Amino acid sequence: MSNLQTMGQQHGRRSWAEPWKIKMVEPIKMTSADDRKRALSEAGYNTFLLRSDDVYIDLLTDSGTSAMSDRQWAGIMLGDEAYAGSRNFYHLEAAVQTHYGYRFVVPTHQGRGAENLISQVAIKRGQYVPGNMYFTTTRLHQELAGGIFADVIIDAAHDSQDLHPFKGDVDLDKLRALIDKVGADGIAYISLAATVNMAGGQPVSMANARALRELCNRHGIRVYLDATRLVENAYFIQEREPGYADKTVSEIVKEFCGYTDGAWMSAKKDNLVNIGGWLALNHEDVFEAARNLVVVYEGLHTYGGMAGRDMEALAIGIEESMSDDHIRARIGQVRYLGELLEQWSIPIVRPIGGHAIFLDARRFYPHLTQTDFPAQTLAAELYLDSGVRSMERGIVSAGRDPATGDHRFPKLELTRLTIPRRVYTQAHMDVVAESVKAVYDHRDSTRGLRMVYEPQYLRFFQARFEPA
Ligand code: F0G
Repeated sequence: MSNLQTMGQQHGRRSWAEPWKIKMVEPIKMTSADDRKRALSEAGYNTFLLRSDDVYIDLLTDSGTSAMSDRQWAGIMLGDEAYAGSRNFYHLEAAVQTHYGYRFVVPTHQGRGAENLISQVAIKRGQYVPGNMYFTTTRLHQELAGGIFADVIIDAAHDSQDLHPFKGDVDLDKLRALIDKVGADGIAYISLAATVNMAGGQPVSMANARALRELCNRHGIRVYLDATRLVENAYFIQEREPGYADKTVSEIVKEFCGYTDGAWMSAKKDNLVNIGGWLALNHEDVFEAARNLVVVYEGLHTYGGMAGRDMEALAIGIEESMSDDHIRARIGQVRYLGELLEQWSIPIVRPIGGHAIFLDARRFYPHLTQTDFPAQTLAAELYLDSGVRSMERGIVSAGRDPATGDHRFPKLELTRLTIPRRVYTQAHMDVVAESVKAVYDHRDSTRGLRMVYEPQYLRFFQARFEPA
């Protein structure tokens, strides 16, 4: 039961609080409405192009924005900056093996470095890569390696109001149909993401992962996992799936990984570091190929683009990320913000997901069409109102179909309020919620945007807009 509900129903109020206290603070700048108007116009109405000095509360992403612990900072001082064989690499390798259970580890500078390696190693030109919804960088690397992404997530994931508890699940019928159509040889591997980012941070059930494994075993197809937010996924399994309430998040993570052949990781999320990533594998031949490629793109196979100190902080971060108390508070804070918005009937993706609140821009601005870029517009309006920075997850993020060159029109047109880990307080969440409410209150008079500059790859990062 949620915090707000419990408060109303119990005689004595019993709140949770963060399992940490603050040892160091970073002042943030307060901005005026005039400052923000100027800054947004200079940034082409794209929150990725704002300077962070012009931002008050930064909910652009949970990627690399977490606060490290005192133990992690102490680990920074233990960096062994040897080019080869750094002792910190062996700590990192052991942490991944212990907590995720894979045999082999290749370090990378961040998640997309690992995506590049696995895509190049495991995809033959023309093969399909079925996945539970696309992610921007993941799909691009699959396409650059000659693969064709196929969305096999359950339909509920594309509906912002469907209350399915595991909206990240793979639709096994869709996958079977694809296997029947192109044959097992026509499939490179399954690209399985835990807590599906683009669906609103929605989890995959253990039952689904197990059934997927069985189906793939029958056809000799491998399953690779995007483990970026797997700890959050494990928390939802513990909370919602029968038989898991008494298991630790760490045990659930390990069982889940056991249904897959390897994983890539953006350690900038779950793993609580500002930079880093890894690829972990169970098959030695795939590992050898990836370890060979890493020296081309990232650095030697015992640092992969990270400094020794980064690997030490990451090894410690992995361990901290598996704590039940940590993850309960992390998801609890996201839920706190979401429940405030729900109380005011502001349209958000439901159930509330793991790393962010996703505002449903279609229902926020029903008078705008998708080519008015409603989610981009909402991110701009929110910034103008209060200096809160969010980001677009809709038509701009979806990009263009490489075959036709047309916009892709995703069903979900969302603005993401992404919560960094261990950074902001409940008071910050109150300020954010009140700003969303203010923007919602004048929604009827809001007009859309038009795109005036569009880069070739991952356009949402650098595109520019003007008021329509
Ligand atoms: N996979 C997922 C699910 C991600 O969310 C990201 C990054 C990546 C892979 C790529 O990792 O950034 O370390 O190269 N997501 C960030 C975000 C950018 O804001 O959602 P990376």
